[in-house]
Amino acid sequence: MTVAAPVVETNPLREGLEQERVPDASCLVIFGASGDLTQRKLMPALYSLAHDGLLPAGQTIIGFARPEFTDDAWRAAMREACNKFARVRPVDDAVWENFAKGIFYVKGDFNDPEAYLRLNQRLQECDRTRGTGGRRIYYLAVPPNFFPIISELLGAEKMVNDPERGGPFTRVIIEKPFGHDLASAKELNRVAVTTFRERQVFRIDHYLGKETVQNLLVLRFANGIFEPFWNRQYIDHVQFTVAETVGVEKRGGYFETAGITRDIIQNHMLQLVSLIGMEPPVAYEPDAVRDEKVKVLRALREFPRGREEEHAVRGQYTDGSVLGEPAPAYRKEPNVNPESKVETYSAIKLFIDNWRWADVPFYVRAGKRLPKRVTDISIHFRAAPYPLFNKMQTLRMGSNVLAIRIQPDEGISLKFDSKVPGPTVRTAPVTMEFRYATSFGAEPPEAYERLLLETMLGDSTLFARRDEVETAWAWIDPLLRAWANDGRAPEPYPAGTWGPGESDQLIEKDGRKWRRP
Ligand code: BG6
Repeated sequence: MTVAAPVVETNPLREGLEQERVPDASCLVIFGASGDLTQRKLMPALYSLAHDGLLPAGQTIIGFARPEFTDDAWRAAMREACNKFARVRPVDDAVWENFAKGIFYVKGDFNDPEAYLRLNQRLQECDRTRGTGGRRIYYLAVPPNFFPIISELLGAEKMVNDPERGGPFTRVIIEKPFGHDLASAKELNRVAVTTFRERQVFRIDHYLGKETVQNLLVLRFANGIFEPFWNRQYIDHVQFTVAETVGVEKRGGYFETAGITRDIIQNHMLQLVSLIGMEPPVAYEPDAVRDEKVKVLRALREFPRGREEEHAVRGQYTDGSVLGEPAPAYRKEPNVNPESKVETYSAIKLFIDNWRWADVPFYVRAGKRLPKRVTDISIHFRAAPYPLFNKMQTLRMGSNVLAIRIQPDEGISLKFDSKVPGPTVRTAPVTMEFRYATSFGAEPPEAYERLLLETMLGDSTLFARRDEVETAWAWIDPLLRAWANDGRAPEPYPAGTWGPGESDQLIEKDGRKWRRP
């Protein structure tokens, strides 16, 4: 039994967590530890967990990558990263000192069996000195093409313990992109299960680690008032927006092979769609929740063959300006083909063909270089059946909107009509608001903090299951193939605008409008 370090600061969002759920100490090995993800997300998240007293005593982190580092040099580099990127900054000397005792580095090539021997020796040493008891978490922060060789060598060097035989756990965390299409995702899954069992595999979709995304289930199923209205009888349509002001930054090479539909819609946004669309699970348990999410994905209506453009629009940013700064066209970004046809904006109208949602459109859009950074879900309720007060009402859309702000300024608001004070009966929309920052007095923790902790605890509710990933690919693949085959360029939109005009037409031809979040 391990004991949690003392809580340094109380965070109301975490009350109760410290006592209830402290994992056993393990060795977390980060493959690809010299990359951006480790510096920007993983180490800062681990440090913040340590700071909040949520890591077990003895928790050990081993960086594994090709560059040469001593343990001390690695610790210094990680401290700098935490100082820049951790939620709790600057780094606290006392917390760091204790945390850094559990940080090590092993130099090695992912293809080199010798390196795995060295790594294994280091792991066993930590079992002796730090009480990690043979428990392992392998974090693959590497491009997916390394996954087969890493899992093969981990298996060959007997570094993976089969849970069916009991003993300490081994778990593997796989970063996105999980495949490029259905065939490659299936292949990755096939490779994964040659070395690991499905319950040892934790496929990251960092959106699921966001506090506001987890709150979708709480909003729907901890409250009695929403569920009766959560269906086609009361809901006219639902909108999902993931807007970013950034362009592709230094990731032009990757983005050229992906595009925004693969990068954001296939994974993050379909997760949001599933959480909004799912039936109540029988329990808050990994398989019960994921079973219901998969059912939503299975019910997604296929794109009409040859008429995909009726349901999907792709765009690409051209020269413009974002937040007052000039922003060059996508085609001028480093490592991007000057004639690229890759989409940086995508809008899709989708339907969930089941009893709850039959014929209720879900409009989903994601884009780079839009005017503001915001992730927002809005549930648009049907209008009152008879316009008693406002006979001029022309739009089919009701004015009741439940808006869920995933980020930033996390919160939920409900819009409804109210009487404007005065002698005549005039109505105007007003909103009721809940904001995390004011209600809880704290910023929500970073997604990676939660996901790392859940992996240590062995709870995979917030991770994508094999069939979830494959079903999502199976739905989006035909659209991506149709786009690749028609050879057309995406519709241009100046950086700093809300995407191409075609995207407005997609929703306006149905008598609706994009909400400006
Ligand atoms: C990543 C994408 O998965 O999510 C990035 O690869 C994107 O392109 C990022 O910028 C957005 O994440 P967040 O948490 O900032 O919404």
